[in-house]
Amino acid sequence: MRIDKFLANLKYGSRSDIKTMIVQKRVMCNSNVVLDSGTSINPNNDIISIDKQVVFYEEKIYLMMNKPSGVVSANKDAHYQTVLDLIKEPYSRFDLDICGRLDIDTEGLLLLTNDGMLLHQIISPKKIIKKVYEVTLAKPIADFSCLENGIKIYDGKDKPYLTRPAKIVILTDTMCLISITEGKFHQVKRMFEAIGNQVIHLKRIAIGGLKLGSELPLGEYKKLSFSDIQVVFQ
Ligand code: URA
Repeated sequence: MRIDKFLANLKYGSRSDIKTMIVQKRVMCNSNVVLDSGTSINPNNDIISIDKQVVFYEEKIYLMMNKPSGVVSANKDAHYQTVLDLIKEPYSRFDLDICGRLDIDTEGLLLLTNDGMLLHQIISPKKIIKKVYEVTLAKPIADFSCLENGIKIYDGKDKPYLTRPAKIVILTDTMCLISITEGKFHQVKRMFEAIGNQVIHLKRIAIGGLKLGSELPLGEYKKLSFSDIQVVFQ
């Protein structure tokens, strides 16, 4: 890949900004000053630096975030902070997508990646991946058998939708875990509304075999390897 394209992709400036940096002899490839913005590099092997600072690069980035409430799962928003606004250097230089959005007031496990193939595999409705949510309800949990059998809710387009069977584990009289394999608009909230209750706090704690755990503070994220992320499919 051309070095100017590589650095522009990593948001170090426009191609012409990068050309200027190169003319100023600020860019190095391994131990050589780069003299031509068309220089071909191998991003996976060559060490590129600007002003003697090494440019971080990995082809595929996987981040696991503990999303806080009040932050939107979107790339941009006119009013609210977005999950991407929480990502700092060096990962903020990558074009990350959100794998399975959470509502603004939902907390918990969110995956971000620039791996389009993995993103597709995780969000495709054809893939049956269990998502586990910890739910706090306004009222004590009554009969929930209809959630376990499948219940009619309205999807994001207000079309009636029969949910796939969910699994409920009771924690206290107003708290439970629910496992679902779909991701319709406000699905968990709508499922509990359909049985006359109301979700007052929602937190995603697992996607497939990947668990949020208790180590990652709200608003923080950590990088996962490709093999770490594969537990999603277990
Ligand atoms: N279900 C909801 O209602 N909201 C979420 O954010 C995720 C699942």
